[in-house]
Amino acid sequence: MRSFLLLWLAWSVALWAGPKPPQAAIASAHPLATAAGFEILDQGGNAFDAAVAVAAALAVVEPAGSGLGGGGFLLLHRARDGRQVMLDARETAPLAARRDMYLDAAGNPIPRASIDGPLAAGIPGMPAALAHLAENYGRLPLRCSLAPAIRYAREGFVVGPRYLEQVERRHAVLGRYPAAAAIFLEKGQVPRPGFRLVQPDLARVLEALAARGRAGFYDGWVAERLLAGVRAAGGVWSRADLARYRVVERRPVVGRYHNVRVVSAAPPSSGGVVLVETLNILSAYPLTHLDPATAKHLIVEAWRRAYRDQALYLGDPDFVSMPLRRLLSPDYAAGLRAAIRPDRALPSAWLAAGPEAGGAGADTTHFSILDRDGNRVAATLSINYLFGSGFVVPGTGVLLNDEMDDFAIKPGVPNLYGLVGGSANAIAPGKRMLSSMTPTFLETPDRIAVLGTPGGSRIISMVTLAALDFAAGFRPALWVAWPRFHHQYLPDEIQYEPDALSGAERRALHRRGHRLKALGRTYGNMQAILWDRFLDRVEAASDPRGGGSAVVR
Ligand code: DON
Repeated sequence: MRSFLLLWLAWSVALWAGPKPPQAAIASAHPLATAAGFEILDQGGNAFDAAVAVAAALAVVEPAGSGLGGGGFLLLHRARDGRQVMLDARETAPLAARRDMYLDAAGNPIPRASIDGPLAAGIPGMPAALAHLAENYGRLPLRCSLAPAIRYAREGFVVGPRYLEQVERRHAVLGRYPAAAAIFLEKGQVPRPGFRLVQPDLARVLEALAARGRAGFYDGWVAERLLAGVRAAGGVWSRADLARYRVVERRPVVGRYHNVRVVSAAPPSSGGVVLVETLNILSAYPLTHLDPATAKHLIVEAWRRAYRDQALYLGDPDFVSMPLRRLLSPDYAAGLRAAIRPDRALPSAWLAAGPEAGGAGADTTHFSILDRDGNRVAATLSINYLFGSGFVVPGTGVLLNDEMDDFAIKPGVPNLYGLVGGSANAIAPGKRMLSSMTPTFLETPDRIAVLGTPGGSRIISMVTLAALDFAAGFRPALWVAWPRFHHQYLPDEIQYEPDALSGAERRALHRRGHRLKALGRTYGNMQAILWDRFLDRVEAASDPRGGGSAVVR
């Protein structure tokens, strides 16, 4: 009897845990970051240890996109018990922040005040996230999982063409701050090809984190330097800001599209809500059987409505109450769908008035990890704009974010990505600014996807298109590569990459009343993994638009 019970127990645990992937996979925006992740898996680390290694490595080798001076959202799936959780490592507004801190006496936004320099920086969440991940989910000590990043920072690495292009775009602001210029520029200029980026101060900060966990960053000599450096350059951080910063574990947003379970980012990201609302609206259309122009029209009409709700309602859940049950409800979506005409675009201005939403580049970063136990991480990390605020705190090598710009600086005034908001996303002390970052899992009984991308407000439309591709049975190499189109309520236009819309589609959309805007360039840098349990196969893909690397091993 006892052995029967044991057998039954083992069987039900195996069933619960499911089969294991035949291989592990990592897709990230930089080959050295992907390599750092595998180095840690090879040492017996799990996907969460690898995530610490990849995130820390990206902070060193892709400094324009994310880092210790920034934040992000990490979506976790633990195979052992099926636990799914979102680590919210979003930056918080300093306690001295005020609703109108970026406005002049006449109430007008002060140009670039929320974008350049330390006043634009929220309190970083990334160091706390790394410590939290290692302590609560990892198998290895931080000392091990941070080792590759520390090595990259100390020994340096030769930058690629992407880095040089990014510096070119933020050269002016990096040149303004001596500690930033000394690290990222070469004699005050955009470096020449072959430039070796060495960051010994950052290596010491990573070592402090490795030795003392979160206290290594938010307390002690690092904290002293952060406070002194920020305040000397016009910032308003206080000791209390650093001491009270906490990572928050939040329940992911969950929805369903046909047979796909969608697990995605919860507020203070708008990503999961807008994604699920969009898919709910689309779920009644036979998209793959419609002519392509009609399908694209319907997708745009769904985005128009879901992005509007983002602008109207969403913000930090610890500060504002949001009608999430309504926004995520299939019945609410059915009501929105009823007002969609297949032959006409609805002008955004005809939807009940609200604040609005806008575009994005190649900053911020995403990585996806699957280990051989079936643990998964989808992480989108950011310092907001390219090289964040451009301000490096002297003596730390830590480049600070300019995430404060993701708040609604003033109702109706668009941020860097054209997004506007109202009081739900107004600045308040200690509050988290609304984000579009959308790390996502897509799950059917046979197939599991781990994905995400940078791209500001376009992140959510990119992940929508990938979810539709996944549901239609396409493989990750296509999700990440397919040309993209986008609509975000306001501005009321379909933006599109070269080759995204055929001539006939453009004409058909124009006839329906859409305004079309050719961007003339690409956007996004999606990193995706597919575990096909039916075929017992793992695939990974890195967006051909970026210089990343996807490895299955
Ligand atoms: O959290 C957000 O939505 C933005 N800070 C993300 C910025 C971004 O993706 C820039 N990338 N191109």
